[in-house]
Amino acid sequence: VNGKVVIPVVVNVLYRTAAENISDAQIQSQIDVLNKDFTATNPDFANTPAEFAGVAANVGITFELVKINRKSTTKSSWGTRDAMKKTKQGGLDPTSPTTNLNLWVCTIGGGILGYAQFPGGSSATDGVAIDSKYFGLSGTANYPYNLGRTASHEIGHWMNLRHIWGDASCGDDLVSDTPVAKTSNFGVPVYPYVSTCLPAHNEMTMNYMDYTDDRGMFMFTNGQKSRMSALFVSGGARAAF
Ligand code: ARG
Ligand code: ZN
Ligand code: CA
Repeated sequence: VNGKVVIPVVVNVLYRTAAENISDAQIQSQIDVLNKDFTATNPDFANTPAEFAGVAANVGITFELVKINRKSTTKSSWGTRDAMKKTKQGGLDPTSPTTNLNLWVCTIGGGILGYAQFPGGSSATDGVAIDSKYFGLSGTANYPYNLGRTASHEIGHWMNLRHIWGDASCGDDLVSDTPVAKTSNFGVPVYPYVSTCLPAHNEMTMNYMDYTDDRGMFMFTNGQKSRMSALFVSGGARAAF
C-alpha cells in the first residue's frame, strides 16, 4: 500500500441473546476508539509519563467500518479455536480477509476477553475475536474493560506486536523502546512502577500490549509502530491492505 494505511473493517456479530446483538452505535464506538488509539488522539494519551513521552507514538493507521454482518445462533460460548470464523461451524466465514480486518463479536467464554491471529497465518481464520462484553463503549461493555482497549490490544497482535513482557519472565517483545517487564501487569499500576528486572528501571504498564485495565493503557511506542507499519509495505505480510 502507498501512503496512509486505512484498514477496512468488517464486524461479524454472532448472537444468541438480544444483548449479544450489540447495536450499530456500540460497534461504531469501537471503531472510533481504534481511530483515536492508533493516532495518539485518545484523551488519555496525555497521561503518558514524561519518561516515556519521547517514544510514545502516533501509529498513523486508521480504521473504516465497511460492513456489519449479523447472525443469530444457538451457541452460548464460542471458545478460542476459531469456530466463530467458520460458517460450517455455525459462525461466519471472514469477508475478503486479505483486504479487510474481520472482527468477530460474540461470547467467547472462559474469561477470555479476545484473541487475535498474528500475520502469516491462514487467511480463512485471519482477524480478531472479541467478547461482546468487552467491545466498544456503553451497551454491553463491562467495567474495567469498557473503553474499547481489548480491540486496541488484539489488533496490536494482529499487527505483529507481542506482549510487552515477551511472554516470559523479563522477556523480549522484539521492540527496543519498550522497557523489559517482569510479567503481565493488571489493574491500574501507579507510576512509577519499578521493575524487578535488572538493571533498575520503570515498567511501561500503560502500554496497550500489557494486561492492565482499559483505563490503565493508553500508548504504543515508535518501535511498536515500526513493527506494525512494516506489514503494510511492499513485501510485508499484510501488503494487500
Ligand atoms: N487477555 C487478552 C489477550 O491476551 C486481552 C487483554 C486486553 N486488556 C484490556 N485491558 N482490555 O490478548
Ligand atoms: Zn494479548
Ligand atoms: Ca522491549
